[in-house]
Amino acid sequence: MDPLEELKQDAPGRIRSAASIVELDEVEAEVVGRRSPIAEARSGLGSIEDPEERGATGKAINDIALGLTAQIRARRDVLEVAEVNERLSADKADVTLPGRVPERGTHHIVQQTIDEIVDIFVGLGYQMVQGPEAETDFYNFTALNIPKTHPTRLESDTLYLDYGEGDEEVLLRTHTSPVQARHMEAHGPPVYIVVPGKVFRADAIDATHLPVFHQIEGLAVDDNITFADLKGTLAEFTRQFFGPDTKVKFIPHYFPFTEPSAEMHAYTQGQWIELIGCGMVNPAVFENVGYDPNALSGFAFGMGAERMAMVRHGITDLRTMIDPDVRTLEQYR
Ligand code: PHE
Repeated sequence: MDPLEELKQDAPGRIRSAASIVELDEVEAEVVGRRSPIAEARSGLGSIEDPEERGATGKAINDIALGLTAQIRARRDVLEVAEVNERLSADKADVTLPGRVPERGTHHIVQQTIDEIVDIFVGLGYQMVQGPEAETDFYNFTALNIPKTHPTRLESDTLYLDYGEGDEEVLLRTHTSPVQARHMEAHGPPVYIVVPGKVFRADAIDATHLPVFHQIEGLAVDDNITFADLKGTLAEFTRQFFGPDTKVKFIPHYFPFTEPSAEMHAYTQGQWIELIGCGMVNPAVFENVGYDPNALSGFAFGMGAERMAMVRHGITDLRTMIDPDVRTLEQYR
């Protein structure tokens, strides 16, 4: 059979059955490309002597070529649309899949405890204030009536930043009590403040010691504050924090900045637990900050935030409070 006749017969089927653009490109090369029967037939035209016959054959070749090219273009349009559709449907987001839920963070249990304790005192009319963590010897010790010879000033207990001169020594505060002195020096009475913050001591980490922990300090100064106000306030706080039936008792203690001083214990989870250091503001402290000890009286107290969190949640090892394991942290939700 004449190769052109053969082409005319089987090319349309091959074009139609090309399943992709790549396949269609191959068919196109074979059918109308440089080595196709069409190209061959065209190059044979020159050997036809009769001009009329040459013209007629040439036109016949062109007709076949145009017809096939049109079919190829039509098939290409169909394949292009199909390929775009396929790409789009492969790309499509499946809106029925469950969404990705981001991990939810939470406040650390110590922060939650601090917030709760501060909230209780704010509810009792106290104002929250804060002070510096790098403190001078004057506010941390001297203003609070802690004598120069007191062992807590030793480097074995206190972390010094700058030895400076006398009361200008700079250290990491060992308690939140210096904020009492700073606040009274800057503000007149009456004072009702609650002071949360970090404190630092030269202790190695074990089940009952951390070199960095948190305290919440309280100070009330007014015309006629008595030890009964101290007891009533701390008992009310304890009932709000641990539950309405929580019993408290006050045991004599010693702090240089309060006189008399006490430890408040609470009966919770079947036992008496020491929770809060407290006492009536020592008149010497009033004098140090420029308050008149004959006209004013007040009480102060301090408690450890980690300790409050541990007692509340029945945790026995202080190191749990600095455990970065998410399995521990997740329980604080
Ligand atoms: N500052 C004391 C401590 O760190 C606690 C305290 C505060 C005691 C206020 C009495 C009054 O142990």
